[in-house]
Order: sequence, then C-alpha cells, then structure tokens
Amino acid sequence: MDTKLLFGDAGGFATPMLAVSAVDVATGKKAEARPALLTASEGIAAAAARLLASGEFKAALGETAVLHAPAGLGAERLLLVGLGKASELSSGTGALSIDRLRKGAGAAVRAAKPRSVREMAIAFPEGELCGGLPAMLTARAMVEGAELADPDWDTYRSDRKDRGVRSLTLIARPGEAEWMGETQRGFDEGLVVAAAQNFARALVNEPGNVLTPTVLGARAKAMCDEAGLRCEVHSSEKIQELKMEAFWAVAKGSAEPPALVVMTYEPASAPAAGSPVLGLVGKGITFDTGGISIKPAEGMEKMKYDMAGAAAMIGAMHAIARLKPAVKVIAVVCSAENMPDGRAFKPGDVVTGMSGTTIEIVNTDAEGRLVLADGLHYAKTLGCTHLIDAATLTGACVVALGVLNVGLFSNDEPTCAKFEGALAVSGEKCWRLPCTDDYRDHIKSEIADIMNTGKNRWGGAISAAMFLKEFAGETPWVHLDIAGCAWDEEKKPWVACGPSGIAVRSILEWVRSYSG
Ligand code: BES
Ligand code: MN
Ligand code: ZN
Repeated sequence: MDTKLLFGDAGGFATPMLAVSAVDVATGKKAEARPALLTASEGIAAAAARLLASGEFKAALGETAVLHAPAGLGAERLLLVGLGKASELSSGTGALSIDRLRKGAGAAVRAAKPRSVREMAIAFPEGELCGGLPAMLTARAMVEGAELADPDWDTYRSDRKDRGVRSLTLIARPGEAEWMGETQRGFDEGLVVAAAQNFARALVNEPGNVLTPTVLGARAKAMCDEAGLRCEVHSSEKIQELKMEAFWAVAKGSAEPPALVVMTYEPASAPAAGSPVLGLVGKGITFDTGGISIKPAEGMEKMKYDMAGAAAMIGAMHAIARLKPAVKVIAVVCSAENMPDGRAFKPGDVVTGMSGTTIEIVNTDAEGRLVLADGLHYAKTLGCTHLIDAATLTGACVVALGVLNVGLFSNDEPTCAKFEGALAVSGEKCWRLPCTDDYRDHIKSEIADIMNTGKNRWGGAISAAMFLKEFAGETPWVHLDIAGCAWDEEKKPWVACGPSGIAVRSILEWVRSYSG
C-alpha cells in the first residue's frame, strides 16, 4: 500500500472513496443512536446529512455505510465509519480512545477491499467531539490501523484475488506548524510500526513445512542485513557447545535443525557505562506436535503459530532498527520443531540448562519454557540488564484470560510499570497475573531442581511463568504469554482473521521507554 499524508481539504479531494469517522453522541443505555461526524467540513456534513438522519447508520465501532456520488464533494463515494459512543472516545487520551481510531481506519480499508476500491482517502477526525486527542498518537494510530487492515492471509490460495488497497491518502486540515509536525511524525512512525507488525504476521502465517527453524533464521538474517542490524544464526553445534541442554532436548527429535538467532541493535552514540541493555527473547517453535507427549489431532494444525513470540521479537527489531532508540537491544530467538521421534526427549528425562539448573521433563509438550530457559539465560550472558520474553506458552493462559488479553508477568515493579506505560501507546491489552514466590511449589521436583510442568492443572500459566522466572533470576523481567492472542479466529471489521502480530507494538514501545 502506498500511503501518503496530505494537509488539505478532505471535502474537495478527488478520490474513488473518502472515509469519514462518526461517533454516537446519544447518552444513556436505552437511547436511540445519534450519529455525528468527526468533521469540520460543511460540505461533508451536508452530503451525509440524510444518511445520518435516516437511522440506518448507528456509528457503532467498525460499522460502515457507503454513499455514492455525494453532492458537492470531490470523492466518488463517501464512506462513513463508526467509532462507537462519543463519551468513550473523548474520555481523555487513553489507549482505548486512540485504539478506536486505529480500528476505524482499519474498518475503512476493509470496507474498500471487497468493493474493489483500490484508491482511497481517510479524513482525520476533527472538531469538538475529538478535542484533546494528541496529534502524534492520532496520526500514528490511523496509519497503523489502515496498514494492518490491508493484508489478507490467503497467499496460498490459487483462486486468490488481490484486492489490496493500492493507494491511501490520509488528509488532515492544515493547522499550526507544531501540530502539523507532530502529525507528520506520528504518520511516519505509524508506517514503520505497521510494517514491522505486518512482517511479523507474515512470518506467523507461514506453514510449518515452509517456515522451518532454518528458514526462520534466514528470514531474520535477511531482515537484519537490510535494516543494518548485526545478526548471527547458529544451529545444533553451537547450541550444544553453549550447553543449552534444555533447548537441545526440544530440538533433537526433529529432522529439522534448530536455530538460535541473535540480533543486535547498537545506538549510534555509545551509551554510558551502566546503561540498560535490553534483552528480547522469543519462543520460536515452528511446529509443536507436543513431542512424545503428543497433542490430540484436532486443532494441531494451529501449532504452526507457536513461533509467534519469535516473530514478535523479529518484528520489533525491524522497527527498532528504523526508529533508532538510544538504548542497546539484543534479541534472542530460540527456534526448533517439537517432534516425536526415536531421538526425541522423553518424559522422565533430566536435562541441565545452560544456567546449571537441572530440569525434570514431565511433559514434552511443555517445550516452550525449555527453549526460553536457555534463551533467557543466554541473553543475560550477553550482557542484558532487562529482559522481556514473548511466547505462545500455555493453553491455561487462554483458559484464564480468553483471547482479548495477553498474560503479563513480571518479577520487577518498575520494569512492569514501564511496560504498562507502553500499552497506553500500543493499544494492546495485557492483564497481569501473579508469579510471586509462593507459587514456587508448583514447579518443585523430587528428582531435579525443578520440573517443566505444574504439579497439577491449576494455574498452568503461572507455573510456566514460575519456571521462566528461575532463569530470569535477579534480572528485571517481563513475560508475555500470547497463546490466546497470536491468532485471531473471530471476524472483525478492522482486520483480517489470522496472525495478529500481537506484542510487536508494545515491545517496541517498552524498548523506546528506555531511550536516553
Ligand atoms: N504451544 C503450546 C501452548 C498453546 C496452546 C499455544 C494453545 C497456543 C494455543 C505449548 O507448548 C503447550 O503445549 N503447552 C502445554 C503445557 C502443558 C503440557 C503443561 C499446554 O498448555 O497444554
Ligand atoms: Mn507444547
Ligand atoms: Zn508450544
């Protein structure tokens, strides 16, 4: 998609389709909807007046209505896009209201696609009703929403019709120089962020036979070469040489060799001694059969997205390379295929992680925490002072939180607070779960230092987090269990079903919060 920002008059702009946002200004639960446009253009207001009065369009979030040949406008079609209740939109500058703009822009693009509209424009929201929306975040959210809405994940269908929007113009009314500068900055950033997220989504979309650990490593390397990041891709030999027995245990049952990917971003001017070094660790299981503790057949095909944590880190690094925060970042991706085989690891095996901790394997399907254990420890040996990991780690997290919130865990309040601050910008939703030491019992083993499952089914996401916490040790650490959020099953007006690219934006924003 060729996306441009234009300062001008949306009403006069010649385009096949012009999208304008609307909110419902009715108050009270039972009140009839009262849609109102977020525009200061009298031309647009006049053209939409009868449709708005008809009651057909309620301005619910993601709702759209198309008007052909709108009188007095430069556009061939006027698209109204609902953002929901006005009271909720203008409730300050919080993530929720900004996120509605992201979704609205997405809904506009997704309304254009099935209509084969290949060129369109979206008017910036303006006027009283959206007073207080910060220019930078507004522009950024709009571009992100539009760019994320464009891809459809039917790349492997031979009857695929490419209905992508080719050209998109975001139109903002010219204003004060500072405001225009902020808007431009938000627009530019949004393009970078959305490209990174779409890159991660494309990786997650790939089937396991295409995206093996080797291919994942090669794609990460190609991205790094292009973006100017240092990148090393290691395999079996180095993993064994580093004594990553936990990682190797998972990897050794597959005919596909594992990949240990290390991507490094160095800021232009060397940070002062003692500055933070951020470690991004991603679970990159390119297919999870469960291993010897094999999963049931039903739904197993989904386990190709068990590398979404790794994809999130690779995506975040893509954006970091382009936005250049003043902080050093090292990403470690642990990629393997979890397979049953004569050489596979088995329940009852005891392995020693790179840290020296001994681990009793109770269930080979709890493989994610094993590869991450060595990934987290390795990141510390590379000098990381703060760690964040993302992983499609547990079904239990999905049971606990459903698919609307990522499970958030941390061993350090300031680090966690910084991450929660990042969520206000990213619009992604996380819900904190405990991993306090009173849960340590969950992973106690009779045989080894710890075991790789909980002692029973209860609090499975917490048991997994407790396991990882052993390897984070004293280092401040945030853990994101994205099992429920990495793949969207439910149809939404603003984005295609499939790989979501969850966590890319939040991780990026967390990293930027350390920029000197
Ligand atoms: N990759 C799965 C977790 C998962 C489940 C991701 C659903 C996405 C959707 C993970 O490796 C796994 O199998 N976890 C087990 C752990 C158990 C054996 C302790 C689980 O959640 O059942
Ligand atoms: Mn598993
Ligand atoms: Zn897994």
